[in-house]
Parts: sequence; structure tokens; C-alpha cells
Amino acid sequence: MTERAAYLDYVADTTFTEGYREYQRRYAERPRESDRVLVEMIDRETRDRPGAEVLDLGCSTGNLLRHVRGARPDLRLTGGDLIAGHLEECRSDPGLTGIDFAEIDALAIGRTAAWDLIVMNAVLYLFTPDQFARALSSVARALRPGGALLVFDLFHPFGQELTITEASETHPEGLTLHFRSYAGVEAAASRAGFGRPRITPFRIPIDLPRPDDDDQIISYTVPAADGERLLFRGTLHQPWCHTVFPVA
Ligand SMILES: C[S@@+](CC[C@H](N)C(=O)[O-])C[C@H]1O[C@@H](n2cnc3c(N)ncnc32)[C@H](O)[C@@H]1O
Repeated sequence: MTERAAYLDYVADTTFTEGYREYQRRYAERPRESDRVLVEMIDRETRDRPGAEVLDLGCSTGNLLRHVRGARPDLRLTGGDLIAGHLEECRSDPGLTGIDFAEIDALAIGRTAAWDLIVMNAVLYLFTPDQFARALSSVARALRPGGALLVFDLFHPFGQELTITEASETHPEGLTLHFRSYAGVEAAASRAGFGRPRITPFRIPIDLPRPDDDDQIISYTVPAADGERLLFRGTLHQPWCHTVFPVA
């Protein structure tokens, strides 16, 4: 299977997308902790730009946009995704009225200086290194001067580029996850035309109990010696980070 085909399989997998929609419904009223941090970051990055245009790329159910609009009704919001079904659901959701939704491929956005801020929330970790590089270049072109890309993704401080293929009930063929090093992310950002990314590890402030059903791949936390909580998905530690990629 080619890399491109594997990638398309993921976005077209209806079992996965249905399950994801159900998962996101839990956070319609109250955002996930990681989304709460993203909303604060969006607010901070656009504070001196009232009416700024913000694109949530890979918006899925539109949940993040719902919470951004609650916090900053002045922002002009667009949700972009590859899956037409997601976009149709978002357009017919009364809770997302006033937000634009468009079919946009992160690898080839095809627009120049169109947004002040682009958000990619848990999207890039599924991209191969080549797709990661293409997405960063495409986003850099689509941002206005002084703009930024905000990302929530799997980055870690070690000199190690990890690719893990996880075969599970929802992905019997295997879903490939990419854990990128800070150094690799910085190098890719520079090649794409961004300044130095500002990476902040996500310290989750709540305990997530381990589910009773160990077969399910659901996130949970484990206390670490330093009092922090380590976030796991099955047996995998997830080094989620919030990152600002400023336009150079
Ligand atoms: C794991 S989901 C994350 C969804 C949402 N951002 C969140 O945090 O809940 C990844 C999303 O990215 C979308 N996606 C994947 N590849 C994409 C691409 N090349 N362009 C736009 N969206 C893409 C998928 O369709 C899916 O909705």
C-alpha cells in the first residue's frame, strides 16, 4: 500500500469517523481540557486583531469552533475538512450557525494570505514526514504576515522520530501514528517558512481513570514521580503538546 493510499483510507474510514463523532458529543457543552487550552491560545494570538479570520483545519465535528465562538464572537471562523460528511453535519448543526465550512485539503490548501490564524488540532500526527512537510508549506502560504499556525500534536524532546502502527478493533489494518522530535519539528517549520515554533507540553490537570474494558483504546492518566499525570492511550504514552508556529 502506498503512503498516499494509507492516508486516504484513514479519512474515509466511516467506522472511525462515526466513533469520533460520538466521542466529541461528550464535549459539546464543556470543552476537552486540551481544547480549553487551544481556545485560550486563539484568544491570546488574536487579541490585537479583532475580527481576525481563523481556520480550524481538520475541524471534524466543529466542536473547537463552537467553543472559540463562545469565547470570541468577533472572530470570523471557518472549519475545513476533507470529509464532506463532517462538513454537512457541521452546516446543519444549529449550534454552529454563522461559521463557514469548506472542503479543504491541508496538503494543498491552494490559497495565499487568506487567514490570520490556522489551527490543526490532532491532525498532523497521522501525516507521514512528507505529508507533514507539505502541510506546513501549504499552511504557511495560506497565512497572512504576522499570522500563526496553532497545533495540538505528538511532539517530544528526544532525538527520536517514532512511527508506531497501532492495529485495533477500529483499525484492524493498522493506524500509523507519528511522534516527532522537537528538533525535527523545528527543522520542518524552518523549511516551510515559519519562525521557531513555541512548544508547550500539555500537562493535563485532571485524572482520567483507566477504563474497565482494557480492550478499548481510550486515553487515561497515570501519576508520575514528579506529581504530573502521564497521558496514555492503551500502552502508548502520548506526548501531546500545544505549539505556536509563527509566520517568519
Ligand atoms: C483525529 S481527527 C481530529 C478532529 C478535530 N480537530 C479534533 O481535535 O477533535 C482528524 C481530522 O482531520 C481531518 N483531516 C485529515 N487529513 C486532512 C487533510 N489533509 N485536510 C483536511 N482535513 C484532514 C480528518 O477528516 C479528521 O476530521
